[in-house]
Formats: sequence, structure tokens, C-alpha cells
Amino acid sequence: MLVNGQSFRSIWLDTEGVTVNIIDQTRLPHEFVVHSLATVEDAIIAITDMQVRGAPLIGATAAYGICLGLREQCTQNQLEQISRRLVSCRPTAINLQWAVERLNTLLDKHSPKDWLELAYKEAAFLCEEDCEVNEAIGDHGAAIIARLWEEKQQKGRVDILTHCNAGWLATVDWGTALAPVYKAAQAGIPVHVWVDETRPRNQGAHLTAWELKAAGIDHHLVVDNAGGHLMQNGMVDLCIVGTDRTAANGDVCNKIGTYLKALAAADNTIPFYVALPGSTIDWSTGNGVKNIPIEERDAEEVLFVQGRSATTGIIDRVEIAQQGTRAYNPAFDVTPAHLVTGLITERGVAEATREGLLSLYPEKK
Ligand code: MRU
Repeated sequence: MLVNGQSFRSIWLDTEGVTVNIIDQTRLPHEFVVHSLATVEDAIIAITDMQVRGAPLIGATAAYGICLGLREQCTQNQLEQISRRLVSCRPTAINLQWAVERLNTLLDKHSPKDWLELAYKEAAFLCEEDCEVNEAIGDHGAAIIARLWEEKQQKGRVDILTHCNAGWLATVDWGTALAPVYKAAQAGIPVHVWVDETRPRNQGAHLTAWELKAAGIDHHLVVDNAGGHLMQNGMVDLCIVGTDRTAANGDVCNKIGTYLKALAAADNTIPFYVALPGSTIDWSTGNGVKNIPIEERDAEEVLFVQGRSATTGIIDRVEIAQQGTRAYNPAFDVTPAHLVTGLITERGVAEATREGLLSLYPEKK
């Protein structure tokens, strides 16, 4: 996607094809900083500290993390150790495990002397594939927006609500939930996005609003609690969110607060779609509500907010509760499948059921 007229992906190799560049997402929207990852340690820090985040991008970073690790150490034991460390960086996003397993399955079939070259090739292929998959999600999702636009012409625009950031910054390019928005806008449909700020880390305010502004897409930032009111008052035509892990029964795990938006959407008969690549489906989990592990993050994320001081212009963290206040910080929640209108995948739109998913991914039967 374009940043000040220059085309960027969220992760790319340096010109020598060795170190890995990322956009440090902890510095957006106020600073655009590119970091270079040279070791597996750097990749682990980037994922753990959320310089990169969003399920597909976490997976892509882990794939390159293996490459960086193999530059230093190359035995079977060492590969297993690197893989374990990468997978344990964040527990909920299944793409992390998926990407690490994908590289391991490939390397297993070859001699260690070929691993480094093969790993770099596979990581690059995985990133290319992510872009193609997300673009296809965009096409399928844009068809839904186009149908709504036919009904809503009088209103003058289609209003879409999204939560967290599932745009190009959360993937290698295009995004999942925002890909349909970008595609619909390209097709000339007037789209307007309600961007949930997404406490505690404010991915909506920091990242989604930044992305949409850069792409020239009409949007407003709203506090997380505004969605119900907007929906009740006819101000939302459609919700689209991403997911960190979708269970085989169609239950959807996404950023904390997603479930409440789905409840409000159901109460107001507003379609609630989830956009995801096949790599985000956890076929081994039959019941998402019961079995998807929910990452619990540092209480400090609730007790402090980061932003730019209106007086000094300095980027800082400020404490928003009395010192000593205890906070609890689950990072994700699970929306039960019955609240999901449809799952927008690269292969088309599925009903949020096991049968629906299997109709698009019959090889998983
Ligand atoms: O904690 P984050 O910022 O990694 O959470 C990201 C989300 O919840 C996204 O909505 C999800 O990963 C889908 S990204 C295409």
C-alpha cells in the first residue's frame, strides 16, 4: 500500500536478501520507523513487543525469524528450539504456529546444508501468497459491499464498522477486513468506515485510522463503546472484522471487544462478517468459545495510554488510573459462530459452520 506516494509492504527483505525490514507499529501513527531484524532474537522481540502484530504478519515474521535463526545455527535440535521459542511469543494467533510448522515440514524433507536457502525461499513464497490471498478476500468482500451499495444508494455511502486493525499493517499487504474496503473504494463505491479505537493498545486509533487516511478512505474514529449506539441509529450497514484464530465450527477469536460488536449487530439485524485467510482456521479446535487460548497481556496496557503530548509534542505514556490500581487484560475474545453472518475467505464466503468451512476447504475433511 502507499505511504506518502511510496509503495510499502509491512515486511520485506533488505537489498542483499538477508536481513528483514519491518515497520515498527509501536511508533505509528506519529512516527514512521523502519527496523531491520538481523537475528532470531530480533524477530522474537518484534513479535513479543508488538512492533509487528496481526495474525498473518506475525506468521510472516516468524517464517523470516526461522531464516535468521538458521544463519547462526543449523542442527535439528537448534531448529526445534528456535521454532519453539517463536511459537511461544504469542499464544492466540494461529498463523504463528502455522507458519513455523510450514517451514519445519519443508525443512524436514531436506538436508541441513540446504535449509537456509530453502527457508528464505519459503518465507518469501509465504509472503507473496499472503498478498494474493488477501487480495482475493478483498474481491469476495467487495462483492458484499457492492450488493449493499445497490440497496443504500439513497444514503450516499456504505457505512462499515471495524474493530482493531486488520488492514495491510496486520498482513503482508492488503489486509483482511480492510481489503474489501480498499477494493470497494477502488471500484468507485463510496465507503465510510467507523474505526473502533480498540483499547487497550488502540490499534484502531493508531493503525487503522492511519492506514485509511493514507489510502484516502473516508472514516471516523469512535470510542469502543459507540458501536451499539451507531448500530441502533441506522449508522452502520455492515461490520467486518479480522480474526486471530477461527475454530473449525466457525467460532471466531479476535481482539477483545469484538464479541460485544457482534451482539449489538445481531440485535440490530446488521450483517457481521469476518475476513480471514485459510491459514487462520484452526482445524484442530472444534469449539472456539471453549478451547481457543486467550492471551493475557500486561496490566500496564490498561493502566497507561501512549500518545503525543499536546503541549510538548513528545510521544509518551500517561497513567490513567490511580497508582496501585489492579487491572486485568485479556487481549482477545471469542464470538460464537451463530453471531457471524459469514466468513470471507480467499476461496469465497462461507457460512460460519464446520460444513460451511469444509465446503470451501474440502481437503480438510
Ligand atoms: O493484538 P494484535 O494487534 O496482534 O491483534 C490483531 C487482531 O486482533 C486482528 O484483528 C487480527 O489479527 C486479524 S489481522 C488480519
